[in-house]
Amino acid sequence: MSGPETNESQSELSRRDVLRAGAGVLALAPLSQAAGEKPGDPFLVKPYLQLGDASRLLKSEQMVVSWQTGTDESKWVVEFRPGRKGKWIAAGAPKIDPVVVSGIAPHWVFRATLTGLAPGGEFEYRVRRNGNTVFASTGRARKSGSQSVRCVVMGDCGTGSPQQKRVAFQAARIDPDFVLIPGDLVYSNGRISEYRSSFWPAYSPDTASPESGAPLLRSVPFLGGLGQHDTGATLDDYADGFAFYMYWSFPLNGPVGDEGSANAFPLGNNQERRAAAFAATGDRYPRMANYSFDYGDSHWTVLDTWNPHINWNDPMLRKWLRKDLESTDATWKFVSSYLPPFNSSTAYPHTQKMRVIVDILQDTGVDIVFCGYAHSYQVTYPLRFTPTSKLDGPVRAAGHEIPGKFELDKTFDGKTKTKADGILYITTGGGGNAGLHSPEQTDNPKTWQPFTVKYNASVNQFTDLRINDDHLALRQVDLNGNLIDEFRVSK
Ligand SMILES: [Fe+2]
Repeated sequence: MSGPETNESQSELSRRDVLRAGAGVLALAPLSQAAGEKPGDPFLVKPYLQLGDASRLLKSEQMVVSWQTGTDESKWVVEFRPGRKGKWIAAGAPKIDPVVVSGIAPHWVFRATLTGLAPGGEFEYRVRRNGNTVFASTGRARKSGSQSVRCVVMGDCGTGSPQQKRVAFQAARIDPDFVLIPGDLVYSNGRISEYRSSFWPAYSPDTASPESGAPLLRSVPFLGGLGQHDTGATLDDYADGFAFYMYWSFPLNGPVGDEGSANAFPLGNNQERRAAAFAATGDRYPRMANYSFDYGDSHWTVLDTWNPHINWNDPMLRKWLRKDLESTDATWKFVSSYLPPFNSSTAYPHTQKMRVIVDILQDTGVDIVFCGYAHSYQVTYPLRFTPTSKLDGPVRAAGHEIPGKFELDKTFDGKTKTKADGILYITTGGGGNAGLHSPEQTDNPKTWQPFTVKYNASVNQFTDLRINDDHLALRQVDLNGNLIDEFRVSK
């Protein structure tokens, strides 16, 4: 097939079908054959949606379609149609970044931007190579402030485990608007090779099943923060590290823009590897380590926390964070902090570094902080925290202890009393790593810190978050779809 027309049955493809059954691929098979494509997959990584460098809501929304190939010789065009009907519109020419690093065959990362999307509107898109459609899927534009939102939050995902795939399958079933991973997208060192073995397969299989995962990436934008395992080593150790900055397209409104900054995780000393990484990461390294975005009536600030170089007591970083959280009028404010400021896991009793920013979070009315690192589900009382003494000097190490005084809102129960007086800190680090932390603490309150009200590390799981005006509903769901917990918060 050579023209822009497509099989009309394609337009019957529902977004839910794509998520649940991998129907995009089923519907595509005849297209590819009709197009005379040679057998074989033209993609190293199939198309995936990204919010791109668009921190704030737009009247006319955009979405980035990204994909990866092993050759740059083809002519690629992305076409889309808002509302999933009418004429196909050609996106602008894709931006192409070569990734040429030691030990990995050269490959190319494409980014094409779809524009003119109605907020919350469904769209279809198709990717054409040399005039032939080789991929099609659907997506949903970012929602406006008056539309309800449903998203998945889960940390500590990319190990390639069977549990990761089961969680992905269940997460897709709720048809989320986006997926946020606070950290540990990929184990163990954020390498290109590890994305291939342990990330893309679970979220971009051709068919959805508990065994294979679900093709979320093609229709649901992922957002992510850096965990211990995303940039835990320099290029001196792994030439194909820092893939986070090569493959993702998040907003570029963070405060750390130069490798020379004391707050950046450095690339290392090998000059050849450094040059290759700079070429492949463009303006994303290290800027994209921190960023914020709006989605519907919520504002999300995603922080680089485990990084032992970043000092969240640096006045420049504190100023940026305060300004970011003050500059939004969204009803809901959330922070993604991979390192939990407050957690009860006996595996991490000293992880308190991020308490250094709690005063800012309290001053600016943050509602919930979502964390990972501890492979468990933990919920605190709504709380206020005051450090015992003024915090002077750098706070860089995860184990930097910050003792203080707690005020706990013990009247909040998430059912009949849903107004929270204080910030809820939720650890949701069960997204895929089968090595759960301190499972014996599950439902065992005497092992918890006084600020903890819930703890489950008995099974891999994710958070299903629904936001509707000034009401929020949270469900914690396990890898078999069973409900672990649920509660509500209201304004
Ligand atoms: Fe982890």
